[in-house]
Amino acid sequence: MGKILIEELRFLLVTVVLVVLAEGNGAVESCDLFEGSWVVDNSYPLYNSTACPFIRKEFDCIKFGRTNLDYLTYRWQPNGCTLPRFDGKDFLKRFKGKRIMYIGDSLSLNNFESLLCLLHSAVPQAKFKQEIYTENVTVTFQEYGVEVVLFHSNYLVDIEVEHVGRVLKLDSIKNGLIWKEFDLLIFNTWLWYTRAGTGQPWDFVEVGGKISKDMDRVEAFRAGLNTWAKWVETDVDATKTKVFFQGTSPAHYHGSDWGEAGVNNCLNETRPVSGSTYPSGLPITVNIVKQVLMNMSKPIVNLLDITKLSQLRKDGHPSKFNGFKGMDCTHWCLAGVPDTWNLILYASLL
Ligand SMILES: *[C@@H]1O[C@H](CO)[C@@H](O)[C@H](O)[C@H]1NC(C)=O
Ligand SMILES: *[C@@H]1O[C@H](CO)[C@@H](O)[C@H](O)[C@H]1NC(C)=O
Ligand SMILES: *[C@@H]1O[C@H](CO)[C@@H](O)[C@H](O)[C@H]1NC(C)=O
Ligand SMILES: *[C@@H]1O[C@H](CO)[C@@H](O)[C@H](O)[C@H]1NC(C)=O
Repeated sequence: MGKILIEELRFLLVTVVLVVLAEGNGAVESCDLFEGSWVVDNSYPLYNSTACPFIRKEFDCIKFGRTNLDYLTYRWQPNGCTLPRFDGKDFLKRFKGKRIMYIGDSLSLNNFESLLCLLHSAVPQAKFKQEIYTENVTVTFQEYGVEVVLFHSNYLVDIEVEHVGRVLKLDSIKNGLIWKEFDLLIFNTWLWYTRAGTGQPWDFVEVGGKISKDMDRVEAFRAGLNTWAKWVETDVDATKTKVFFQGTSPAHYHGSDWGEAGVNNCLNETRPVSGSTYPSGLPITVNIVKQVLMNMSKPIVNLLDITKLSQLRKDGHPSKFNGFKGMDCTHWCLAGVPDTWNLILYASLL
């Protein structure tokens, strides 16, 4: 009788262990990491922004006076599983001897600085070397042999100065020669495709051998992105280099998008939208990115589909709490929302 009891107990224990393994293991792979909601977690934020030496004045919200700190305590909870906690030491070990590059506009910079803070907070005593140029920033964690680079490129495709003026060349990607040497690439673009007037850094746009003064900006984005996708297919060695595309990061200037008509910035937002639905739906670029990726002959680009989860975070922007005192509801405070982008990146690499 005693023996039967022990056998039963053993059976029970084995069953329990198996169930736990199944939940902790299969779950992240099979679940959609981009569908879920934001929940309060008092173990957040993942790092102390004051102790992070990489945050630019544009994203350093606490330093520039933000006093409502609720935004720091939200954790992204996917519907079907829990994201693994970011393990910076493990990340550094996995990438020993490797080079990581974020390529794109200031939202890539935002994302890059988030990863640096996450890594630094895991190894605060570790030496690092930082090299800052206009077009790129390199941070090397020397003891780990890990290099993290930001490569500034607003359009991914080229802008060249010719006799007519500055030409946005939607069919050309010259910097790819540098990018393809890296082990992990995280791309993003869109913001600058909408720029017009004095903020527009080109005078003509060229596509399919034709130069014109302007064109539909969404179609320009599609053309530029298709050029990029072709470049990935033909030039990137997918056995060596992992490629991610960081989806469109949403801005919050129109309260009507989240059900507060009349509000025209994010200054007073202290809470995420609750639940998992964003009233205005997704920006048009989300579909274009998906179409371009599906159009590729090999599925070698992983989409960091961060648009909706970020839309829900109307509370996550610097607003006026930044080092240039303008109203910014486009970028994100650090610590903050981009940490979750990197958590998902990390989960996708495990
Ligand atoms: C954050 O870091 C700063 C500077 O290292 C330190 O003075 C402060 O006490 C830290 N805050 C918390 C909450 O740990
Ligand atoms: C960064 O810019 C400097 C100066 O232009 C250049 O020498 C270096 O090769 C660049 N690094 C990368 C990774 O693009
Ligand atoms: C934010 O709140 C302040 C104080 O309640 C108010 O004066 C201001 O108009 C609000 N701003 C926006 C954009 O809603
Ligand atoms: C698919 O790729 C082709 C060739 O690059 C391009 O002409 C076409 O516009 C792309 N389709 C979409 C939906 O982007």
